[in-house]
Amino acid sequence: MTVHFIGAGPGAADLITLRGRDLIASCPVCLYAGSLVPEALLSHCPEGARIINTAPLSLDEIMAEIQAAHAAGHDVARLHSGDLSVWSALGEQTRRLRELDIPYDVTPGVPAFAAASAALGAEFTLPGVAQSLVLTRTSGRASAMPDGETLENFAKTGATLAIHLSVHVLEDVIARLIPYYGGDCPVAVVWRATWPDQRIVRATLETLEEATGGERGRTALIMVGRAIGAEEFDESCLYAGDYDRRYRPVGTNPRFPEGVE
Ligand SMILES: C[S@@+](CC[C@H](N)C(=O)[O-])C[C@H]1O[C@@H](n2cnc3c(N)ncnc32)[C@H](O)[C@@H]1O
Repeated sequence: MTVHFIGAGPGAADLITLRGRDLIASCPVCLYAGSLVPEALLSHCPEGARIINTAPLSLDEIMAEIQAAHAAGHDVARLHSGDLSVWSALGEQTRRLRELDIPYDVTPGVPAFAAASAALGAEFTLPGVAQSLVLTRTSGRASAMPDGETLENFAKTGATLAIHLSVHVLEDVIARLIPYYGGDCPVAVVWRATWPDQRIVRATLETLEEATGGERGRTALIMVGRAIGAEEFDESCLYAGDYDRRYRPVGTNPRFPEGVE
């Protein structure tokens, strides 16, 4: 018996890995985080599967379901939105599973920031503009931010910010970032990326509040940084015609002559 943690992707039901889909199909029990996981994914469950929305359950209740499946020898598909590496409650569940000696594995999924990049048609790391992407959030009722992880500290680097779980405090986010990025810095808010009701607002830090028209639906990413929608950036050396590299040796004395591994 194994608990399979599966990244269910950002919303569109076809944005799950083949491995994730096949695992769902093989498990007689499916626990899914109903607040963000699309119900269409449940169509992959085998007939007669026990399917439980964990949104209203406590961690103890979730573990009780898993322990019951374990006692019956039933594999469990555990679905969380996006990828498991960020804000998925994977850590607290796997710690309990280790204590209980219940085996588990993890299958990655498409995270919300990648879905937002696709929705915007934008690369968040542009040569000479930004080479880092910070996945962050602001303090919430359930989780305070560690001392050093302030928006201001990340903003000092000029990196592209993907701010999660924060659209309800948009005004505060804008006010804290303008001193670092400038009021003319491009921003985008992407609501429900890849869902049928996806919405995108592009603006600058200065104009964003008005541009959103007061919309504060919670499932949104605030993308901030000079890389958002930039046209002024360098081309990477990697594809430059005169750049000598292992897969495309160039010049009379290439660094990686053909045939040399
Ligand atoms: C609990 S976190 C889950 C993050 C998820 N594990 C991931 O890999 O992206 C939920 C937050 O992620 C962001 N989010 C999740 N899905 C999204 C989507 N489809 N479009 C925009 N933002 C999304 C929102 O900021 C939302 O409040």
